[in-house]
Amino acid sequence: MSLYAIGDLHLHYQSVLKAPGQLHGRVWKNHEEKFKKNCAKLVTEVDTLVLAGDHSWGKNLPECGQDLLYICGLPGRKILTRGNHDMFWDAKKTKKLNELYQPHLTFLQDSYESYRDYALVGTKGYTFEGPFYIDRRGRIVGWDEEAEDHAKKLVDRELQRLRKSFELARADGYRKYIMFLHYPPTSILEERSGFTDMAEEYGAEQVIYAHCHGESRFYDSIHGDFRGRTYHLVSGDYLRWKPLKVLD
Ligand SMILES: [Fe+2]
Ligand SMILES: [Fe+2]
Repeated sequence: MSLYAIGDLHLHYQSVLKAPGQLHGRVWKNHEEKFKKNCAKLVTEVDTLVLAGDHSWGKNLPECGQDLLYICGLPGRKILTRGNHDMFWDAKKTKKLNELYQPHLTFLQDSYESYRDYALVGTKGYTFEGPFYIDRRGRIVGWDEEAEDHAKKLVDRELQRLRKSFELARADGYRKYIMFLHYPPTSILEERSGFTDMAEEYGAEQVIYAHCHGESRFYDSIHGDFRGRTYHLVSGDYLRWKPLKVLD
């Protein structure tokens, strides 16, 4: 029995690929097929696969039907967290999604899931992504402060949701955690953040995040060991569509 994670499938069976430039390139060619084959090789029916957001380009649930059906067809138990492009998923209506897709998919929001003696906790997260002002050498010399203020509000809301997820697990007796985000835990301006602090506060062993696409963005945030936790980027193009084994 193993726990796997990957993010950013960006499926578009029924919707137009609103691909910004970074989603072009060889790694995205037939990526659905590549991922399906890798899952068939790696993931068994007793395994758990966490999909860390940006599942579909569909604008609403009917437009995501085939994308979610594709995910239902993957092996193992599937747990989904929200990404910034998941327009079909209103956080406040997660219960309805779970009712529709049980027992095939679990949508994790303001809740947790268990895996052995671990609680899988998470939320979408948020990081400030500019706009930044760059000098001729490519150094950041300033940024949009209004956008930064707005981002702080979104970060606070996501931190509340993440705390709720941890607290529910803790109230049920869990003491070991794997923490999932869609956005990276820190913006490129930060070394630490509310998200890294919360991972430390509850003692999450690993922090798994996605969202960073293309080689120029892969190292925007933390990789590997940092202040007692291990951080992993699991965006699909970074992993070349091979899900990461998080736990045995
Ligand atoms: Fe994405
Ligand atoms: Fe994203």
